[in-house]
Amino acid sequence: MGLRIGKNTIIMSLYFLSFFFTITFILKTMKTKLFTIDSLNEAAKILINGELLAFPSETVYGLGGDATKSQTLEKIFIAKGRPQDNPLIVHVSTIFKAKEIVENWTQTHQKLAEHFWPGPLTLICQRGKILSPLVSAGLSTVGIRIPSHPLALDLLEKVNLPIAGPSANLSGRPSPTSWQMVYDDLKEKIAGILTTPDPLEFGLESTVVMIEEERQRLLFLREGFVTQEDIKKILPHFVIEKGDELHKKSSPGCKYAHYQPKCNVFLISYKERIHTITPNTAYLLWQKSREITQIAIKDNWEIIESKENLKIYRKGNKKLWILCFHNLLDYANNFYKSLSICEKEDAPKIFAQDCPQSSWGNALFNRLSRASNHQYVKK
Ligand code: TXA
Ligand code: MG
Repeated sequence: MGLRIGKNTIIMSLYFLSFFFTITFILKTMKTKLFTIDSLNEAAKILINGELLAFPSETVYGLGGDATKSQTLEKIFIAKGRPQDNPLIVHVSTIFKAKEIVENWTQTHQKLAEHFWPGPLTLICQRGKILSPLVSAGLSTVGIRIPSHPLALDLLEKVNLPIAGPSANLSGRPSPTSWQMVYDDLKEKIAGILTTPDPLEFGLESTVVMIEEERQRLLFLREGFVTQEDIKKILPHFVIEKGDELHKKSSPGCKYAHYQPKCNVFLISYKERIHTITPNTAYLLWQKSREITQIAIKDNWEIIESKENLKIYRKGNKKLWILCFHNLLDYANNFYKSLSICEKEDAPKIFAQDCPQSSWGNALFNRLSRASNHQYVKK
């Protein structure tokens, strides 16, 4: 008996291993096609055929796949290298469709959906039977949202399927806010990318919340541009709590390393003056940028390139990159893109200014902290 179970186990393991290697091989050798609004029908066919298509949303690019098909969801986990216990959020185009794929739609869900959708808010609900259990990665719940990006909405309307869509980056890396960032991470691993030349409206991922109806409590699992104050206005009788320790239990994604570029990121306080320049460093600044430019001039740094908000300086064999933003919103919108620019420039390290922890500043502070692994520049 014991021997027979052993044999079965070995056969099953071999079966799963061969499935895993076949999928990995197919994904590795795939040519990734680029689509635009003019080839939306072709792009939609990719999703209908159970393949993966990255698409723009108002927050970040998502890696789309049919949320009703387990085989497609397997491909998402493999392409991203995503831990198996990190659930995926699902995108739909109407509240009616959201209600069809979940079990416990309450008045509270309805209120929040009517007020914030389409938009950057993900609601955690009980998963309905039509969705593959893989979408929940071992939980009984699923995160749902209606994105407001017109291309995403058109795509969802055309495919008429619930579409799983984690951020379209390799696990642990910064979320992509341009199709080029998606391509850098996932080329030859996914069938296509629906591209837009325009910048995304927010540039940081959606707020994720979980409603506890009986306790009249709402948990913030991930901060985003929909803030606690925004929700309090709609649900004045609810207690609103930040995730923290609960966070890690209820939202597995929060325990993993996130948003980290290849170079080291260190934080500097936006309140402090900058007295000296550290060579071979990229500075991300939304305050006191004039100070650093004056120091660069005084220290004889020669400006060798200036494009958009990036200035590149040289002195001997040393380099310096300064990325300045008009304000906090501009900084948040461009944060991930800036990390990608610094990577492309081969900047050995990044000093990024932090920000106030209030309102949606919490969302940016969270991404800054995690990108830097909470390290501040030592004084
Ligand atoms: O803005 C966004 O939310 C983007 C765009 C593409 O929609 N998507 C996105 O997905 O950021 P992802 O997978 O990178 O992040 C989703 C987060 C993860 O931290 C995950 O752990 C959490 O939401 N999450 C997903 N389903 C959950 C569930 N059922 N319960 C708790 N947390 C969940
Ligand atoms: Mg992500």
